[in-house]
Amino acid sequence: MPNTCRSMMMMLLMMLTLFSDPVAAAADQLSKLQYLKNSLFRRELLSGSAPHFSRLNGVGPVYDVRTYGADPTGRNDSTEAILNALSDAFNKRSSNGTLITDVYDLGGAQVYLAGGTYTISRPLRFPAPGAGNVQIHGGTIRASDAFPAKGYLIDLTPPHGAPKGVAYSYEFITLRNLLLDVNYRGGGISITNSLRTSIDNCYVTHFTTEGIISRGGHETSIHNSFLGQHITGGGDPKERDFSGTAITLAGNDNIVTDVVVFSAATGVFISGQANILTGVHFYNKATALGGTGIYVKLPGRTLTRIVNCYMDYTGIVAEDPVQLLIANSLFIGDAYVLLKSVNGVIDGVNIVDNQFSGSNQQNGIVQLDESKTPFNKVGSVLVDRNVARTIKIKSTVAKGLAQGNGTSWTVDFNPILLFPNRIDHVQYSVRVDDTALFPVHALRNTTGNIVVVESNVTVSASVYVSVAQ
Ligand SMILES: *[C@@H]1O[C@H](CO)[C@@H](O)[C@H](O)[C@H]1NC(C)=O
Ligand SMILES: *[C@@H]1O[C@H](CO)[C@@H](O)[C@H](O)[C@H]1NC(C)=O
Ligand SMILES: *[C@@H]1O[C@H](CO)[C@@H](O)[C@H](O)[C@H]1NC(C)=O
Ligand SMILES: *[C@@H]1O[C@H](CO)[C@@H](O)[C@H](O)[C@H]1NC(C)=O
Ligand SMILES: *[C@@H]1O[C@H](CO)[C@@H](O)[C@H](O)[C@H]1NC(C)=O
Repeated sequence: MPNTCRSMMMMLLMMLTLFSDPVAAAADQLSKLQYLKNSLFRRELLSGSAPHFSRLNGVGPVYDVRTYGADPTGRNDSTEAILNALSDAFNKRSSNGTLITDVYDLGGAQVYLAGGTYTISRPLRFPAPGAGNVQIHGGTIRASDAFPAKGYLIDLTPPHGAPKGVAYSYEFITLRNLLLDVNYRGGGISITNSLRTSIDNCYVTHFTTEGIISRGGHETSIHNSFLGQHITGGGDPKERDFSGTAITLAGNDNIVTDVVVFSAATGVFISGQANILTGVHFYNKATALGGTGIYVKLPGRTLTRIVNCYMDYTGIVAEDPVQLLIANSLFIGDAYVLLKSVNGVIDGVNIVDNQFSGSNQQNGIVQLDESKTPFNKVGSVLVDRNVARTIKIKSTVAKGLAQGNGTSWTVDFNPILLFPNRIDHVQYSVRVDDTALFPVHALRNTTGNIVVVESNVTVSASVYVSVAQ
């Protein structure tokens, strides 16, 4: 609190100075801002929970791959040179400080690509595990035709597997400002059993397996990046043939944010828990052509959040979803959510506050695939507050009205309710047109999502019904 007060007072002072003499004060303001920033930074470092950091990430020793003989024109093979730079970054550590147990702090060492394009014929596999706080950045890496099929350009997998008893192989590895061209040989980045890996401003293309795969470990953060098997701006005549997966999250607690997936059969495949996708735009392969934006394959233990995403002609598939949130997202081009029954379990699912638009009134915004087995263990499922234009709205709560002169009023909720023949809760009220009449009425039937209310005398009435599944 005192720090915040002081900062605010300084800001105020700076603003006052600025107003009194704009030109001179502007420079002054800059230096004060710098001072303020530095002082805030220092405080953060002093009070931080990572006392072993001797330097900030980004200002550590620089290993320029060109000095190791790498060819920035891409003509000669640079595999050996880059691996040597990587090896030095890992081995010439300046302190014995550690990050998490058994992971040495490399002090922000940088393997620097200096804006070059480098051809490699083998994966850039990380050296022995147990190191962190290092980054590879600033250039293009391209697989040659000799690159082994199914390899990954950058592979954070220890050469001889993880040593016994060591929980994590690498920590705080940053891959930044990279163009990774897999040349249809395999994948872009593979991360195994690592902690806090950051992929920032990377463009991964021409993969056949995965653009990025993260297995085991946790907290891989993929942000501000672009992934596509083919370089296209959409409407590609070969879209039907797109294959591969842009991102596979086979671990927990990963973050994908502000990413565009522009071609691949599957955009993001999730088989780990507590992952979050936010601000991701998918136009990888239209559902109508067999593509999937997001495939969540953790039947019975989904625990996944998809928020503020843009599903552009390609939708979401979730198997036996248990604890799944899909919110504040935009679906266009008939993209929809498919809930697929594997063992009939669905619970803790919220699909709310999304926008859908399409061209096919037969298509529902949320659909069930019960071809294997029906959903028969249905817990709390809320599909509500979505808006749909020229695509059929589906919901788990609904309201209806029946009007007429008679003894029976029927509201058929099948067009809107998601689950067939399932009404858990009904509320209704009867408004009789002739206020002199006061009939007895009752809810008589809800079978097959059709609500029937009857009265004991003929009356002209409106019956308002709301239901929940
Ligand atoms: C590429 O390899 C050739 C042959 O070994 C060599 O003469 C040349 O200097 C290399 N070019 C670069 C930029 O490393
Ligand atoms: C790290 O520890 C080893 C073994 O104790 C020692 O030989 C080496 O000098 C230390 N390195 C640094 C940078 O402190
Ligand atoms: C409703 O139907 C009854 C019986 O056919 C008839 O007597 C009555 O006038 C009708 N009421 C209205 C409001 O149409
Ligand atoms: C309808 O119910 C009311 C209230 O119980 C009763 O007074 C009336 O006789 C009933 N009418 C018929 C036709 O059963
Ligand atoms: C409810 O409706 C279903 C379907 O029309 C019918 O088979 C069933 O007998 C009805 N139940 C009652 C209590 O009227």
